[in-house]
Amino acid sequence: MALTVVIPGPTGAHNWHPMAFNPDTGLVYIPVNEIPFFYDKTRNVEDSKSWWNIGYDAAAGWPVEYPAGTVEAVADLDGGSLLAWDPVKAEPRWAVPFPLPLNGGVLSTDAGLVFQGNKFGDLVAYDAETGERMWSRQLVGNAAAAPMTYEIEGEQYLSVLSGWGSVSNLIAGFTYGEAAGREPARVITFKLGGNEMMPMPLADQVVATPKSSMFGEPDQHQLGMQRFAENCHFCHGAFAVSGGVIPDLRWSAISASEQAWDQVVREGVLEKQGMVSFSGHLTKEDTDAIRAYVIQQAWLAVANGDALPPEEG
Ligand code: HEC
Repeated sequence: MALTVVIPGPTGAHNWHPMAFNPDTGLVYIPVNEIPFFYDKTRNVEDSKSWWNIGYDAAAGWPVEYPAGTVEAVADLDGGSLLAWDPVKAEPRWAVPFPLPLNGGVLSTDAGLVFQGNKFGDLVAYDAETGERMWSRQLVGNAAAAPMTYEIEGEQYLSVLSGWGSVSNLIAGFTYGEAAGREPARVITFKLGGNEMMPMPLADQVVATPKSSMFGEPDQHQLGMQRFAENCHFCHGAFAVSGGVIPDLRWSAISASEQAWDQVVREGVLEKQGMVSFSGHLTKEDTDAIRAYVIQQAWLAVANGDALPPEEG
């Protein structure tokens, strides 16, 4: 069977990000997602080697080689909105569209404002009746949690948890164009007249260029892609493109060395940092193939003009 694309897929429409209700407007404010999901029955999922096999091919829709613009075209299928929904009339009142899905949870206030953080790092207040943008502030990272508001000694505060993490930033790095800077997780609190400066996030020091020459044959790259999709992309990113939360394996110096790669991937030396050994269910042939695929993807990015070749000499 050919590839089938379902939009929205199982991760949304609406995911965990809290929605809100305002009894004065009678509207429900929903962070809506449009995330495609790819199904393909050509490969037998019983052959899949993964700790998490729920019966679909994790590599469905993944080309090993693709022309420039392919990943951007897949990313264009993604989107979302903040939707003000009238549950009595069962119809939308207003919507703010977003090119990226999985924007933040929503807070609706008595004063007629709707607050939401989005994937561009903005925390925005909208008019609850009309959706007009009333105020915004750049947080750098991405507030996926819903903001909250509270009063202490007559003063009103608004706090939001912000950072650069979450499932979407791990898996869907390719939707951001380039990996965003890492923002350390932080709680940011606003009040009227507040004037503290927000510290800037740490700059990423890794140069986005291949760290070794390409190796392996197309068969090995194909196997590596399959095993990467089944095991690694949930954290290191679909199509081997990281969203910047954890290292992009294409630019990692560890990917360039078979020995260093085996120490991490097979022997688990980074286990305390959250990177466990995969030697329990992936053979050396599998993990070698993943390394070959990752480096092949690094050179594919160079060929497609998405990364620069290493400096010569
Ligand atoms: C559950 C999440 C998760 C999965 C799944 C995962 N990793 Fe990792 N990986 C991590 C984390 C977290 C780090 C960063 C550890 C640190 O901070 O040093 C990492 C780091 C690495 C590094 C070191 C990169 C560097 O430059 O420091 C390599 C290599 C690596 N992973 C390979 C893989 C491979 C290959 C797979 C699939 C077989 C995989 N990982 C699956 C979470 C994951």
